[in-house]
Amino acid sequence: MLEELEQIERQALSTLETVQDEEALQLWKVTYLGRSSPLMKTFDQLGGLPKEERPATGRRANQVKRALEAAWETKGENLRQTSIQRTLQSERLDVTLPGRPVARGGLHPTTLTLRRIYRIFSDMGFQVYRSREVESDEYNFELLNIPAHHPARDMWDTFYTTDPGVSLRPHTSPGQIHVMRQYAPEPIRVILPGMCYRYEQISARKEIQFNQVEGLAVGKDLTMGDLKGTLIDFARRMFSPEVRTRFRASHFPFTEPSAEMDIECFLCGGAGCRVCQGSGWLEILGCGMVHPLVLRNGGYDPEKSMGFAFGIGPERITMLRHHIEDIRYFWMNDMRFLEQF
Ligand code: DAH
Repeated sequence: MLEELEQIERQALSTLETVQDEEALQLWKVTYLGRSSPLMKTFDQLGGLPKEERPATGRRANQVKRALEAAWETKGENLRQTSIQRTLQSERLDVTLPGRPVARGGLHPTTLTLRRIYRIFSDMGFQVYRSREVESDEYNFELLNIPAHHPARDMWDTFYTTDPGVSLRPHTSPGQIHVMRQYAPEPIRVILPGMCYRYEQISARKEIQFNQVEGLAVGKDLTMGDLKGTLIDFARRMFSPEVRTRFRASHFPFTEPSAEMDIECFLCGGAGCRVCQGSGWLEILGCGMVHPLVLRNGGYDPEKSMGFAFGIGPERITMLRHHIEDIRYFWMNDMRFLEQF
């Protein structure tokens, strides 16, 4: 019997060495320490031994049992440690590595300029009025004193739709009629920002899609002096308090008299360079006193009310402020350009 116990112990311990995982360890335990294992059977057989052999054999059986239990315990602990080590190795994490930078979004340069324009005019008491991008021929031209077939229409190369008399607006001026008709005969002071479309050959200076900010003030005693004061103030706030400006006589069918405003070229300081094409001045907007016919079309009595209007190109202003030489950048979605603002 003692001989048999030795053999059980030897065999159990040597099998235990081959155990590699929890599952095999469970199986080993059932085989060598389970209720029907050879070791447990020896306990049952103790009673059948001669009396003198019983104590020694019983002691030995208990020893083997304790030894196997201890070995099982140790093996289990080892297996758990190796598995932890393996996980630590494979899921190694270096917490001292610098993090990945989070890319921050930014506003489009045109949006930045538009917001600046809104700010400046709202400080002067102008409200923002939104008008439509798809317009009728009547609002685009006729009510603005540009009759059909009149050569003045050549100033606006328009995208027409298949609907007769419906087009994408080539300028924001038709919004003047909408806002006047809504508020006449009350005084108004509004800006009308928005997208405009023109059938142009795209080039460094021309896009088929661009923004305009129209301005309109109608009231009792408005004069050309109010127009000039407003726009000079705008230029000073937009560019710099020292900026020099000038007004040049021009022509627009919906204003009389009409003018264009220039600012002194900030690259050459008026001496003449490539950007200002030698003139020393940069054109920034068109403006004028609202034509009596247009006032009447808007519902005002031109004998009683006067108005001034202007049209600003935000892309052009952005180009001047940031020395951008090609208008196509605004629609290219090139991050290298956009990230600079
Ligand atoms: N609508 C004109 C254009 O697109 C710009 C303009 C000029 C608007 C004079 C005005 C103005 O309100 O008074 O070329």
